[in-house]
Amino acid sequence: MNKPHIIELPRMYDPRGSLTFVEETRHVPFDIKRVYWIYDVPGGESRGAHSHKASESLIVAASGSFTVDLFDGYEHHRFALNKPFEGLYVPPGYWRVLDDFSSGSVCMVMTSTFYTEDDYERDFDRFMEWARSRKEEAI
Ligand code: TYD
Repeated sequence: MNKPHIIELPRMYDPRGSLTFVEETRHVPFDIKRVYWIYDVPGGESRGAHSHKASESLIVAASGSFTVDLFDGYEHHRFALNKPFEGLYVPPGYWRVLDDFSSGSVCMVMTSTFYTEDDYERDFDRFMEWARSRKEEAI
């Protein structure tokens, strides 16, 4: 299984402001099928609390900051995102929780699949069963 990691994206410096872009397969290791963004998150709220069965994601703090906790069933990987030119690559199979949203932050997510609820595991106990079975298969 791929590991989550930070991908540094291109940055065009300019006295008029900075610009960053993403091209599928060049900067992210998948074809981008969908982009969504989360905003107006009230202080103290968290998002996510689910895992994806197949879809891959690139999560970008397009504005402000937040943290992403990724759990593979055994280890937590915690990432503080606060740079619009950094993307967090998330393979399928990680339980994700996003929290510590700064006021006015925007969480932009590019994913490899169209939206389907079938791709979600929202039940933590079922996620853990899946994580254990993956580990057994790997041994
Ligand atoms: P949800 O998965 O609960 O958000 P979070 O990432 O915080 O867990 O999604 C909120 C609602 O939006 C839910 O009813 C599903 C819907 N939704 C779509 O219709 N299309 C999408 O691309 C996404 C990401 C969510």
